[in-house]
Amino acid sequence: MGRTLRLLMCPPTEFTVRYEINPWMDASRPVDTELAVTQWEALRASYVAAGHTVETIAPLAGMPDMVYAANGATVVGGAAYGARFFVAERREEGPAYLARLAELGFEPHAAEHVNEGEGDLLVAGDVLLAGTGWRTERAAHAEASRALGLPVVTLELIDARFYHLDTALTVLRDVDGAVDVAYFPGAFSAASQEALQRLFPDALLASEAEATSFALNALSDGERVWLGTGAPSWEERLRARGYTPVPVDVSEILRGGGSVKCCTLVLR
Ligand code: ARG
Repeated sequence: MGRTLRLLMCPPTEFTVRYEINPWMDASRPVDTELAVTQWEALRASYVAAGHTVETIAPLAGMPDMVYAANGATVVGGAAYGARFFVAERREEGPAYLARLAELGFEPHAAEHVNEGEGDLLVAGDVLLAGTGWRTERAAHAEASRALGLPVVTLELIDARFYHLDTALTVLRDVDGAVDVAYFPGAFSAASQEALQRLFPDALLASEAEATSFALNALSDGERVWLGTGAPSWEERLRARGYTPVPVDVSEILRGGGSVKCCTLVLR
C-alpha cells in the first residue's frame, strides 16, 4: 500500500542554535548536541526498520542547520534541483547537497533563483506545490518547474512561524494517483487558501495548536506518518483517517525550528 522511499539525511553532529533565523530559534539557551544526535539516530532507525533506504551526507564543519536536509534540494525523477539559500548563514549548504546528490547518481541542476529545497517545494501527485513569502522567491517556482518537469502551484505563506511550506502542509498520500494532503489554512494568504481548497477539497485541516506543534512537518510513505511527539490530538486524527502515526521524539532538533520532515529529503 505505501511507497518504499529513498531518503537523504544529515547527522546533527554540528547542530546548535547560535543565530536566530526563524521565530522558533532561541540562541540564549544551550543545545544538547549529543541528545540531538541520539534523537536523529532513532528517526533514521525507524525509517530503516520500515523498509526505507536512508542515504547520508556529512555535515560541513560549523554549519549547524545542515541537519535539515529537506532544505538541501528538490529531487524528482532523477533530477536534483539545487537549493540557493535565502539565509546567509546556510548558503554553503546548497553546493554541498548538490555535490552529494550528483555522487548518488542524480542529475544536478544548480539554481539561479533563491529557493530552500523541499522545505518550500513539495510534490503532490503531478504538481509541485511551491511556497513563497519568507524564503523561496517566486522566480524559483518556474525554474523548479522546468528543472523537474512538473507544473507548479504557487502558495503564499503569511505567518512567520510557518516560514517554509513543509511547516504548514504535508502530503499524506501520493500513491498511484491518489493524493491526500493536510494543511493549516491560517499559514496561507486568502488567495492561496482558495487555491488549496479547489485543489484538495477533502484535505485534512490542522488547528493552529496542532500546526504550531509541528504536526504537519511529517514524512509519510502513504501508510505510516512519521512526526514529532508534540501533537497527540493530531495522531488521533491521522489514525481516524487510516494512517499509522509513528511519533519520534525530536525535541532537541525542534530547537532550530524544524521537526521530522525538515530532517528528511525524499529522493524521487
Ligand atoms: N533553522 C533552520 C532554518 O531556519 C530550520 C529549517 C527547517 N527546515 C524545514 N524544512 N522547514 O533555516
